[in-house]
This record gives sequence, structure tokens and C-alpha cells, in this order.
Amino acid sequence: MQRPVYLDYNATTPVAPEVADAIEPYLREHFGNPSSTHLYGRRAREAVEAARAEVAGLIAAEPDEVFFTGCATEANNLAILGVARALRGKKRHLVTSAIEHPAVSQPCRMLREDGWEVTVVPVDGDGLVDPQAVARALRPDTALVSIMHANNEVGTLQPIAEIAALARPRGILLHTDAAQSPGKVPVDIETLGCDLLTLAGHKFYAPKGVGALYVRRGTPIAPVLVGADHERGLRPGTENVPGIVGIGAAARLIAARGSSRDDLPHLCGRLHARLRDGVPGLRLNGHAARRLPNTLNVSFPGVSGRDLLHAVEAQVAASVGSACHAEGDAVSGVLAAMGLNADRARGAVRLSVGLPTTEAEVDEVAAALIAAWRRLMTPEPAR
Ligand SMILES: Cc1ncc(COP(=O)(O)O)c(C=O)c1O
Repeated sequence: MQRPVYLDYNATTPVAPEVADAIEPYLREHFGNPSSTHLYGRRAREAVEAARAEVAGLIAAEPDEVFFTGCATEANNLAILGVARALRGKKRHLVTSAIEHPAVSQPCRMLREDGWEVTVVPVDGDGLVDPQAVARALRPDTALVSIMHANNEVGTLQPIAEIAALARPRGILLHTDAAQSPGKVPVDIETLGCDLLTLAGHKFYAPKGVGALYVRRGTPIAPVLVGADHERGLRPGTENVPGIVGIGAAARLIAARGSSRDDLPHLCGRLHARLRDGVPGLRLNGHAARRLPNTLNVSFPGVSGRDLLHAVEAQVAASVGSACHAEGDAVSGVLAAMGLNADRARGAVRLSVGLPTTEAEVDEVAAALIAAWRRLMTPEPAR
């Protein structure tokens, strides 16, 4: 049976063959605990430290600024709750945006319940945060600003460097959730100017179950999980050595290919052009230019995105929004925050291409979606 074309690379990516090859010896022979001092342990420790250097290299950081976690959710929790714990009693205010992933908005909500004040900065119709709105929200007691680098649903890229230039001179820390960025756009902590940055292995061709948090040297941060002193006391728990080897190999792969596959924008543009030609009234959601080059979020007029994807499920695997809310019927919080009306939000579909995507696949997806949209728009003949 032919499988549907996978256009959901923002939900997760396949493990790259090079990455799987790098991991295999750590599943079979090199099973040691990196904390053990014998040969088995040393092998594992060397692999973890080599991976740390690869991940640091990808984002132009130093290896000792990279901390491995179990996922991006954990890295976001550690950044937000860890900074809040470290600055408790000195600061009591946070700033975030209206379109963050729940892995950021929920820890912020938890802190609010604990007495912190949280300012949620709105976005415009393209999903962009205005740096001046962030600046206006800053206070002497602001501990942290957490604004995502690239939005997972519409791909809009936020002006992180501009926000850093406004926050950091005032002694305010900046965290950015860059889970969606590697392999699509450059991620360089010096250019971005942030203090903390989140990565997710499974969004750039490493396996699930491994993430990383970049923490600039000198950043006040306390652990959120407590236990032994793994990851220099910031994240206890025996390291996921195969996963860490995987994220290291994926970082090497992405760094070697350049910031992105050059034709991701071409593939995405081709898909958009085909859909625009076949679907009058199709609307692009997200910024037309400041966007991840692999992400196309479009609203089909007159239908529900969910029904449309259901109609093409044998040919296309995509989603209506982020994979985490794909089951629910509620309108995407991101599209609502962008001010899209209910019909346009209901008709939205997120198509995201990846390194293995071909032109033929993109054409096949466009043809299937156009045909299904026409069928759904054709009224049933009266019986
Ligand atoms: C922007 C963003 N942040 C965080 C996450 C959470 O990643 P994970 O589920 O791997 O923890 C995701 C996953 O979709 C994401 O897109």
C-alpha cells in the first residue's frame, strides 16, 4: 500500500540515516553509564561530550553552555521555572507572547499561580511580536522575557535580536524557544543575543526523547528536577546516551548542509503557487516573508481544514495546527491571537516540508488537496 506523502515536518522529522548509523553502536556495544569511571562509562561520557560540542557548534555556543534534556518541553520548563527559582525574592515579573507553545505558556501560567506577574504581549495579523510592545512591558522587576524564535503553526520568525537589544541592557534575561528552527533557518546565539535557547532533537532529524537548553555563561538558573548532579547540577538523571549521540549527529548534519536545504523555500513556494491556482480565495496565514522557509499555513475557503485533511488522508499526512492539539476541535490559539476570523481559522491547514521532500510529492499533495476541496465545495445533488 502506498503511504501518504508526509508534509508534517514541523510535528516531527524522520531520523536521518546518518543519525541512525551514529546511534546504533550506543544501543548495542557502548551501553555504559557516563558517570561510571571504567572503560564502558568513559566511552559513553566521551560520546556525550562530543555531542555537546556538535550542538554548541550548530548555534555558535561553547560546549559548557549546552545542557541536555528529555525534550523541548523540558528545556522550556527549565529555562522559565529555573530562572524564576534563581531570581525568586529579587524579581517577580515575566514577559511572554500570545502565540507561545504550551511548553512556554503553561510554565508561565504556573508561575502566575505562584504569585508572579506575567505580561502577555500580543501579535499582529501576521503573527509578529512588536519589539516596542515588549519594551513597554519591561519593568525593573522583570526577570525574564520568553518569546519564541519561530512559530510552529504559521512559521513567523520573531525579531529576537531586536528584543534582546531592548531587554538585555536593562539586566533582563531573554529566552527563546527555537524548537522549530534548526535545519530551516540559521540559529546563532550571538546574532540572536539571547541568554537561553531551546532545541528539540526530533524536529531536526534526531530521535524523540532528547532536547537541549543553551544557557549563556553566568545566567542565574536553578534546577527544576532534583537528584544527582548530572549536567553540572542543572538536570539530574542518567543521560540518554543514544539520544544525545543522535542530537549531536543531527547537529553535525545540519551544520554541514548549511542553515537549510536551499530549495525548501522553492518547494514551499511551488506548493503555495499550485494551491493558489487551484483554490480561489486561498489565504496565507503568517508573515509572507519573515517565515520558516518550510512552513505553509493556508486557509481554504468554505471548508474545515480538519474535514479537508480527513478527505485526503490516504494521500497526504499534514495537520491543522500543532500536533499537540490535532485531536481537539477548538480553533488554534495562535490563529485566534493573530485575529483571524472563525471561518478562516477553521479552514486552516499546516503543510510543512523537510529535507526528504521532493517536487513530485509537493505536486501530488497540491493536486489531492485541490480535488478534495472542490468535492467538499460541491453541494450534494438533491435526492
Ligand atoms: C515551538 C515548539 N516548542 C516546543 C515544542 C515541544 O516539543 P516536545 O514535544 O518535543 O517537547 C514544540 C513541539 O511541537 C514546538 O513546536
